[in-house]
Amino acid sequence: MVLLVERARLYNQAAGITGHLVYFDHSFMQYAEGPSAAIDILWRKLQSDPRHFDVELLARFPLAQRRYCGSSLMFSAMPYYQQYQMTGFSPVEPGDMDALLASCLSQQQTRQVAT
Ligand SMILES: Cc1cc2nc3c(=O)[nH]c(=O)nc-3n(C[C@H](O)[C@H](O)[C@H](O)COP(=O)(O)O)c2cc1C
Repeated sequence: MVLLVERARLYNQAAGITGHLVYFDHSFMQYAEGPSAAIDILWRKLQSDPRHFDVELLARFPLAQRRYCGSSLMFSAMPYYQQYQMTGFSPVEPGDMDALLASCLSQQQTRQVAT
């Protein structure tokens, strides 16, 4: 996992992508922001990575301002991952995860209504 995040950060940094990866209960949720062409390439990479299944795009929309300035890939997961002392790591608890997911899903519904 540490290696995956570090490799992803290298690509994202070179491609001008910033964002956040959340790993919880054997599932990932990722938010990525950056130049549209770079996001297209990343999306294709994610879809063709054989380690994934059920890859789903929840929402995609233009953004006036980045939310993750300077962070090529924040990483959030169970506090267990603190032992690896990764930079840009923040622990999540099950309750936090439910709130995060609810907020993503409500944003997705709002966007679908708006477009
Ligand atoms: C959950 C998950 C999230 C990933 N996020 C990224 C990412 O943000 N940036 C990235 O370059 N690779 C990410 N990867 C790795 C890509 O799926 C892919 O393996 C990697 O980009 C290497 O692709 P390439 O060999 O075609 O260059 C992620 C992989 C997983 C499993």
